[in-house]
Amino acid sequence: MALLSTCVANSMTKGSWIRRMFEAGIALKQEHGENAVCDFSLGNPDLPPPSIVADGMRKLSDTLDRPFSLGYMPNGGYSWAREALADHLSREQGLALTAGEIILTCGAAGGLNVLFKAILDPGDEVLALSPYFVEYGTYVGNHNGIFRTVPTATDTFSIDLDKLEGALTGRTRALILNSPNNPTGQIYSREEVSTVAALLKEKSRIAGRPIFLVADEPYRFLAYDGAEVPPLLPLYDFAVIAGSFSKNMSMPGERIGYLALSANMPGRDALMNGLIFCNRILGYVNPPVVGQHLMRAALGCQVDAGIYKKRRDAMAEVLSAAGYNFLMPKGAFYFFPKAPGGDDVAFVNKLMQHLILAVPGSGFGCPGHFRLAYCVDEAIIHRAADGMKKAFFS
Ligand SMILES: Cc1ncc(COP(=O)(O)O)c(C=O)c1O
Repeated sequence: MALLSTCVANSMTKGSWIRRMFEAGIALKQEHGENAVCDFSLGNPDLPPPSIVADGMRKLSDTLDRPFSLGYMPNGGYSWAREALADHLSREQGLALTAGEIILTCGAAGGLNVLFKAILDPGDEVLALSPYFVEYGTYVGNHNGIFRTVPTATDTFSIDLDKLEGALTGRTRALILNSPNNPTGQIYSREEVSTVAALLKEKSRIAGRPIFLVADEPYRFLAYDGAEVPPLLPLYDFAVIAGSFSKNMSMPGERIGYLALSANMPGRDALMNGLIFCNRILGYVNPPVVGQHLMRAALGCQVDAGIYKKRRDAMAEVLSAAGYNFLMPKGAFYFFPKAPGGDDVAFVNKLMQHLILAVPGSGFGCPGHFRLAYCVDEAIIHRAADGMKKAFFS
């Protein structure tokens, strides 16, 4: 007897690569011992939150004898938290923002769902560049949108402007740009994003309604070797940032994120009211009290990005020594090498025989590659060297 809707059952089958690898990892660890397995499957940051986060927790605990200290609040978040974040983002983006342009959400994931709920009519299309974070398709589908992908350039994963232009239609409502990118580690340059902004402006004019540029930026803090992650709010009037403190403050379980609208967006008050309404009716109601306190305490701080850089360099050495073909990531904490032999699923199974867990590129709309998440202790990366070599040559 089918208890699940066909739609959910299908999404679970399609989007389950990371979950499958996670489950395979549990079985492998039970059989061979926790330390024998090199698990690069999940983007769950292993570094502890910056120590200042504990101050926020202490301050909050001092208020718990007061009524409503953990109570409901306005659905967009506490005004003091929105104001503090507006100040911070004004500096980051180089554009003056107020609390009225910010809504706090349950992670970037919650923010994207709130945004799509607010802006999509049935049949509206949302584009993402592939390879892409696999949940996007589900988020768009949740709100009756149609998810379409546009391939990036082979090998460099940079934006293919001709293909993007070809994919924009009169039904396109939004384009998601995820930079630094999961899974490729690519960062789109100022020149690239400026060209995209000009293209969207022109296509919006032709369509007679704005196409939103959605910057999904949980990895903004993690750009190596001085790479710039260009701020999008000043570049395009209909830009929206979906951000979070899951990765930079290592607190993904706290579910604290945000949407920020460009201060140049005409009609943004109406959109903000809609977003706040959607935060409530989707059942998020308001973002967690604890997360807001921790965010305010630690705004401007982050985990030590130098540790991730050392791990990136270590992983690059392991991959190069074995002969893998890969693009050096400019940001985030993922590698997306080519799967030797071309069959990503077969190769990931081979890696498992050597007790290494990775995720096939098929799970990101890009077969022929595999993803390694290096938010793990550097010792695990070194320990994987032998297995990576054996899998390559077997
Ligand atoms: C590209 C990308 N977007 C969004 C998210 C969701 O992050 P959050 O924890 O802020 O909801 C993730 C999480 O891994 C991600 O990799």
